[in-house]
Amino acid sequence: MSATLNEFSRDLLGGILRNRHSTRAFLSTALSRDQINRILEASSLAPSWCNTQPWRVHVVSGQMLQRISKDLIIAARDRDDVPDIPFASEYPEPFGGRKQNADADLQSARGLTNSDYRGQIEAVRSNWRFFNAPQVIFLTTPKSLGSYALLDLGCFLQSFLLTCVAEGLAACPQASLAQYPKVIRSHLSIDDDELLVCGVSFGWPDPTAGANQCRTGRIGVLDFAKFYGE
Ligand SMILES: Cc1cc2nc3c(=O)[nH]c(=O)nc-3n(C[C@H](O)[C@H](O)[C@H](O)COP(=O)(O)O)c2cc1C
Repeated sequence: MSATLNEFSRDLLGGILRNRHSTRAFLSTALSRDQINRILEASSLAPSWCNTQPWRVHVVSGQMLQRISKDLIIAARDRDDVPDIPFASEYPEPFGGRKQNADADLQSARGLTNSDYRGQIEAVRSNWRFFNAPQVIFLTTPKSLGSYALLDLGCFLQSFLLTCVAEGLAACPQASLAQYPKVIRSHLSIDDDELLVCGVSFGWPDPTAGANQCRTGRIGVLDFAKFYGE
């Protein structure tokens, strides 16, 4: 590859990585089946253990999405069910502080105050309305393949998120969409051997929404990497 091409691809990828952020308000315009296929095909170029490609993708839109949303909101109200992969029950430092910062940044982008309980409940509930996205994917992977299959699925997920950005679209990965797996299983055909890992709402971002102005920071390289030599 020539030096110019290297620079071009580095800048292009850098732009896509920097432009990706979790988007929590979408326009109601649905994507075409062709466009969704193209995104999934590109995402499937992700690496996986011995090329096992253990991702299963359930693409949902239309009336089915509305029915799932209604049932998820009821399940959340009744706290009925537990996720296939347990959520962390506490966040020791330094993770707790980072989570708090991200929560506070999002709350402020949404224009919510600490005392606005109703607004905060509505913001949590908007997860189960898919932030108005007209299409969502639910990601599952076989339990029997163990933890590395989750890593493979994570590679697929990031490829999916970046491909959305490359297409001018946006997305939000959501563990909250895997919080009440009974609901999802009652609507979709998911084998007993599969773990429901997360969902991703995606589509055209609403550029005017406060929630979409939120940008999270990152720790520096020396805060997470150790270099060894000699
Ligand atoms: C596995 C996973 C699960 C997530 N679940 C949710 C979720 O349920 N709801 C939500 O609003 N954001 C969710 N997020 C988005 C994170 O909050 C977000 O990635 C993080 O704050 C960093 O912000 P950024 O994506 O804008 O860079 C999730 C992200 C990942 C990777």
